[in-house]
Amino acid sequence: MPMVVRDESLPAEVTIYEVGPRDGLQNESSIVPTEVKREFIERLVAAGLKTVEATSFVHPSWVPQLADAEDLIAQLDLAGSVPLPVLVPNERGLDRALAAGVSHIAIFASATETFANKNLNSTLDTQLSMFEPVVTRARGAGVDVRAYVSMCFGDPWEGEVPISQVVATGRRLLDMGASQLSIGDTIGVATAAHVGALIDAFGDAGVGVDRLAMHFHDTYGQALANAFAALRHGITTFDASAGGLGGCPYAESATGNLATEDLVWMLTGLGIEHGVDLNAMVATSVWMGKQLGKEPASAVVRALA
Ligand code: HMG
Ligand code: MG
Repeated sequence: MPMVVRDESLPAEVTIYEVGPRDGLQNESSIVPTEVKREFIERLVAAGLKTVEATSFVHPSWVPQLADAEDLIAQLDLAGSVPLPVLVPNERGLDRALAAGVSHIAIFASATETFANKNLNSTLDTQLSMFEPVVTRARGAGVDVRAYVSMCFGDPWEGEVPISQVVATGRRLLDMGASQLSIGDTIGVATAAHVGALIDAFGDAGVGVDRLAMHFHDTYGQALANAFAALRHGITTFDASAGGLGGCPYAESATGNLATEDLVWMLTGLGIEHGVDLNAMVATSVWMGKQLGKEPASAVVRALA
C-alpha cells in the first residue's frame, strides 16, 4: 500500500462507479458466459464497490457480448444495497429493463454528430428525442437515470469537440431529469487542463461538481492524471473498470477505462476514502483476466499480482 499523505484541499471521500461488467465486457472479442459475468459482479460488490454497472439493454446484434442481459439480471440480487445500473438507449431498452426489475438505468448520449450516428444510429437532436420518453417513463416508475455524454474531449472522426457543445448536450440531459452526468473521454485523448476547463464550463452553466462524474479511458495513458485534475476541481464520482478492461466497439481506437485498482492506489495514497478492498479487486481482475485469456492492463494489478 502507498504511504498516506493527505492533501486537505482534495475531497475526503470518493464514489467509484465500476463499469467493468458493461464497458469492459462489451469490448471483448469473446462472449463471456452469463455465469462468469454473475460471479464477476458479485466479486466486485464484495470488494466494496458502491455501484456496479451490470450490462446493457441495447440491440443484441449491436452488442452481442451483452445479449444475455435478461438472463444475467435474473441471476443478480437487485434488492441488495449496491445499485446495479444498466445502459438503456431507447424505449424498447427501457421496456426490457423495467420488465427485468432494474432500479437504475443509464442513457448514453453523444456530444458529436458523427458518434451519435455511429453508436446510436441517430443525430445530435434525435438522440435527445429518443431519450426524453425514456427518462420521463423511468422516473415515473421510480427508476434513477444517469446520463453519459461521450466524446467530450475529442472525437476520432470530427477531431476537437467544442466545450460549449459538450456543456449544451449535458445541460439538456439534466434538464430532462437525469440525476447525474458522466463525462466520457471515450477515446482517452483528454489532458489535465482540458478536464479542468470542462468542469469549470459546466459550473458556469449552473452544473455543480455534485452532478458530475468523470469517465476516463486510458488510451493515451492520461486517465489517472485526468482523474487527479478532476479531484482538484472537486469531482467525487469516478467511473473505473476492474483491471482496466473496456472500450466502445463503435468508437474507433477506444481502449480500456481507467483501471479501478490504479484509481484505488492513488486515492489510498491521498488519504481519500473509497471503501474498496484493493487485494480483493486485484484477485478479481486476475481471475477475470484468466477467464478472458489475457493479462489485465492495470499497472497496479500487474505490480501486485
Ligand atoms: P436501430 O437499428 O436504429 O434500431 O438501432 P431501431 O429503433 O430502428 O429498431 C430496429 C429493430 O431493433 C426493431 O426491431 C427494434 O424493436 C429493435 P424490429 O421491429 O425490426 O423487429 N430494437 C431493440 N431490440 C432490443 N433492445 C433494444 C432495441 N432497440 C431497438 N434496446 C439502437 C438503434 C439505439 C437500438 C442501436 O444503435 C444500439 O443498440 N446502440 C447501442 C450501441 C452501444 O451499446 N454502444 C456501446 C455503449 S456506449 C459507450 O460505450 C460509451 C460509454 O462508455 C461512455 C464513454 O466512454 O464515452 C457509455
Ligand atoms: Mg466508456
